[in-house]
Amino acid sequence: MAEPAKPLTMDTIVSLCRRRGFVFPSSEIYGGLGSTYDYGHYGVLMKSNIRALWFRAMVQERDDIVALDSAIILNPRVWEASGHVAGFTDPLVDCRTCKLRFRADQLELASCGRKPSKRPGETPDCDLTEPRQFNLMFETHVGALQDESSTAYLRPETAQGIFVNFKNVAQLARRKPPFGIAQVGKSFRNEITPGNFLFRLREFEQMEMEFFVPPADADAWYRYWIDARRRWYLDLGLRGQNLRIREHGADERSHYSLATSDLEYLYPIGWQELEGVANRGEYDLTQHTRESGTKLEWIDQDGTRYTPYVIEPAVSIDRIMLAFLCDAYDEEVVGDRERVVLRLHPRVAPVKAAILPLVPRDEGMAGRARELYEELRRHYVVEHDESGQIGRRYRRQDEIGTPWAFTVDEQTLEDETVTVRDRDSLAQERLPISGVREWLDDALERAWSSPHSG
Ligand code: GAP
Repeated sequence: MAEPAKPLTMDTIVSLCRRRGFVFPSSEIYGGLGSTYDYGHYGVLMKSNIRALWFRAMVQERDDIVALDSAIILNPRVWEASGHVAGFTDPLVDCRTCKLRFRADQLELASCGRKPSKRPGETPDCDLTEPRQFNLMFETHVGALQDESSTAYLRPETAQGIFVNFKNVAQLARRKPPFGIAQVGKSFRNEITPGNFLFRLREFEQMEMEFFVPPADADAWYRYWIDARRRWYLDLGLRGQNLRIREHGADERSHYSLATSDLEYLYPIGWQELEGVANRGEYDLTQHTRESGTKLEWIDQDGTRYTPYVIEPAVSIDRIMLAFLCDAYDEEVVGDRERVVLRLHPRVAPVKAAILPLVPRDEGMAGRARELYEELRRHYVVEHDESGQIGRRYRRQDEIGTPWAFTVDEQTLEDETVTVRDRDSLAQERLPISGVREWLDDALERAWSSPHSG
């Protein structure tokens, strides 16, 4: 199969997502809200698959990680202790001429407000202010009073909810280091360089795992998690040529980090961070011990006390979803027709199979297809489609990444078999209708890789 002829653009993905109801701009009828999106039916299904696959790898299939779901609004002292109130900032500059605001450290990626558009600062008319720090946390107020004493924040990361629960979990979960706490939930950041679709959102769903280890083992665990997370993406079919690891230089690491590596994906906007893996050392537990007065430490059976180091793989479902969509998008000509196909790993695909009567107005075929659909939907998300020509129905499923279509035809009524069509190879085979469920179970367990893997 030939590689797609044109380079993939973000607009192509945005338009597919819109057309097929994966993702919409939020509150669109009021003109939308920058960098905020709503997920439609297929987007919700795909997100829930990604969440479940992460949870399975991080919690269900391990003995050493437990789950947590902490509140979004925490005591504001959490964010003072963590360093977010003082330091979770981006440097901003304003242009006095075009009145736009830019990130001072990303001027090369921005366009100034006048036409023809140039980089901010590039024309003699540009009049940029000195950079000043802008805090990315969203503020709110808790209770009836709206003054400084009631100020609280929407969490900018899920991690702090884990650190402040360290003692609770360590006591109750009957685990000793090395052990981890995993959490999935919304985080909020007042990002000032909006754009790039799901890549940088103001409201996103993070999946973070804090792994508490004896300090002497921290580096080995840091390497272990970089490798484990890389393998997770490859096992889910992300193409190796589009995924790389980049270790941060000392000057770009966050204030808490002893070492950080990004798993970068080659998005249409270039190589960008998909997931970060950091060695946070003892920073967070020490800070919260100091500020709260509660000792967040580990006491071994022999009485040895220490503050565990933390290794943290952190990612958002939104960035994973964008990477999977970009990696899967393909256009090809089959016969004399062009088709758009999402070559998603079957476990990631929103719909696992379509059940299609070849001739919908034939009562026999329609009835048999409906029966099969009703049996399969008890186990999997499947679709039953009886509108339009069969070719058009196949293409609709290709565009949302459905890996298989079962077609009920004349022969079904004679010998109780159906055809199964493979999304990627377009190969068709016949199988007994009574074996479809088992066939699907097996197919979803099989390894899958993109036909374009290099
Ligand atoms: N607890 C560490 C932490 O939050 P981060 O590098 O700021 O570190 C971790 O964020 C991950 O969260 C990123 O690798 C990315 O996947 C995701 N993420 C961060 N900001 C995001 C945003 N504005 N929109 C979508 N995803 C974001």
